[in-house]
Amino acid sequence: MQKRYGRITGWGAYVPEKVLTNHDLEKMVDTSDEWIVQRTGIQQRHIAGPEETNATMSTEAARRALAKANLDAADLDLIIVATTTGDHLTPAVSSQVQHMLGATDVPAFVLSNGCTGFLYALTTAQQFISSGAYDNVLVIGAELLSRYVDWTDRNTCVLFGDAAAAFVLQATTEPCGLLSFDMGSDGSGSQHIIAPAAGSAEPVNASTFEEGRHFIRMNGREVFKFATRILGTTSQRSLAQAGLSLEDIDRIVPHQANLRIIQAAARSMDLPMDRFLVTVHKYANTSAASIPLAICDGLESGEIKLDDRLLLVSFGSGLTWASAVLQMAPVQSHQVYTNGASAPAISELVTA
Ligand code: UT7
Repeated sequence: MQKRYGRITGWGAYVPEKVLTNHDLEKMVDTSDEWIVQRTGIQQRHIAGPEETNATMSTEAARRALAKANLDAADLDLIIVATTTGDHLTPAVSSQVQHMLGATDVPAFVLSNGCTGFLYALTTAQQFISSGAYDNVLVIGAELLSRYVDWTDRNTCVLFGDAAAAFVLQATTEPCGLLSFDMGSDGSGSQHIIAPAAGSAEPVNASTFEEGRHFIRMNGREVFKFATRILGTTSQRSLAQAGLSLEDIDRIVPHQANLRIIQAAARSMDLPMDRFLVTVHKYANTSAASIPLAICDGLESGEIKLDDRLLLVSFGSGLTWASAVLQMAPVQSHQVYTNGASAPAISELVTA
């Protein structure tokens, strides 16, 4: 069988209308716009309204992506929703999205991996396509974290936002889509980002509820150290697997958690900040939605071009990490190289 790739033919994002600014937060907890901007780069976040759910946000993002791809929901072969904040513990929100899209009988599942969920899901989708099992796969990254944060805890409530973003991947033999990936996990750091009483280990009861143990708790400093350590390492692994170097990448799209983490990654990779796409000031940390939302935003603003080759890199709860080289359009049409070189041969780019 000829090698098969998953071309990104459609993309779409949904962010709730309601915007919560740092100044709004000043009225809710002991914080300041100055502290939040200096320590995180975040200026505002979007928060879901009472009628909105993970399923409604995911479905809207998916509809936009399908329209861009000019594909009917019924023609999908698989739907993967990367999220940790589905509408219910069970059923998985992916089935609700499948039903709301009208994607009759299409298999659907949730991939629950926090902020790295979307890159894990994209990699999973790519395996179904490259094996020949499926041709059209919808991958959604969605998170409704505003319902899982303690709005009295200034350590966490200033950091997160709600959003959903979706990609349509379609099989092609032209080299594009995910050219390489790296993923990893270190559960010894599981306590650093945790909602202790939101699972089966510690069922919610009156006392856990009283202590707010169903909310997200985070050891920000440890996560910060982990992130700055892992971003460069996993990026190099993905680049090496694709036979590429940083000079061959048009734009780096990091997980949008904290501007200082992105700046530290830029320093460790010895790159100027303008090589990194930054949207954290507008949307805050939207976890599994962060990378696809940043790409949709970049495509809309023109900061990302359709023939760009992107390095995607993420870290998050678990602790986990993931990175990938994503070629938006087939290699042949890739003209823009930051080092000014002409497009290398496909055999140089893609490992067998
Ligand atoms: O997607 C992955 C999810 N997580 C992350 O990416 C988080 C990674 N970590 C971070 O982004 C940063 O560690 C934070 C933004 C969470 C915190 O920044 P920091 O520079 O590491 O601050 P810190 O935790 O060391 O806290 C410094 C001070 C503390 O006060 P004291 O103990 O020095 O008096 C905090 O209580 O800042 C205080 N503080 C705040 N002050 C005003 C913490 N949150 C706030 C706040 N407003 N919102």
